[in-house]
Amino acid sequence: MFRPLALVLGGAAMLASAPLLASGADAVRSRIAAYRELGASFKTVNDGLRGPEPQAMLIQIAARQIVNASRAQYGLFPAGSGAESGARTRAKPEVWAQAARFKAAQDAFSVEALAFQRAAMANNVPAIRTEARKLGATCKGCHDTFRVPGD
Ligand code: HEC
Repeated sequence: MFRPLALVLGGAAMLASAPLLASGADAVRSRIAAYRELGASFKTVNDGLRGPEPQAMLIQIAARQIVNASRAQYGLFPAGSGAESGARTRAKPEVWAQAARFKAAQDAFSVEALAFQRAAMANNVPAIRTEARKLGATCKGCHDTFRVPGD
């Protein structure tokens, strides 16, 4: 019996890539969920700093969550979790194409997350304000280069 080879191979390739596509899309979804939580923690900080007497406890809890997020971020961008996953993502292809530069942006955030936590644990309000600003700059530094602009 004659089988068109291209069809057979094409079918096999589709089967092989299907699970990959599914896990790429899952990775996008959990990544976005993780960043939403990080955004909420950072909002807690900034809201807390608006008043004259910030709540030390709230800011310390948020600082811990931010440090945890800075550790988890390294696992959020597996290969195949870009636009090719089929999921809607704002991660630019440069995340993977300029991996060293992207890692430097991640490291800047990690370092600053710890500095912020130190200020929070010391309950040093002026330092908390300064470090919160520097922390926000590391978010923006990465977003400006590696995230598709939007809201
Ligand atoms: C090293 C890079 C990097 C750093 C640092 C970073 N982000 Fe992001 N962030 C991204 C990328 C990339 C996305 C897009 C994720 C996607 O759509 O798949 C994103 C998405 C987000 C989102 C949107 C989630 C949604 O609803 O779509 C929020 C909110 C966010 N980041 C907050 C923050 C905050 C707050 C900080 C700092 C405290 C921060 N990020 C630090 C790279 C970074």
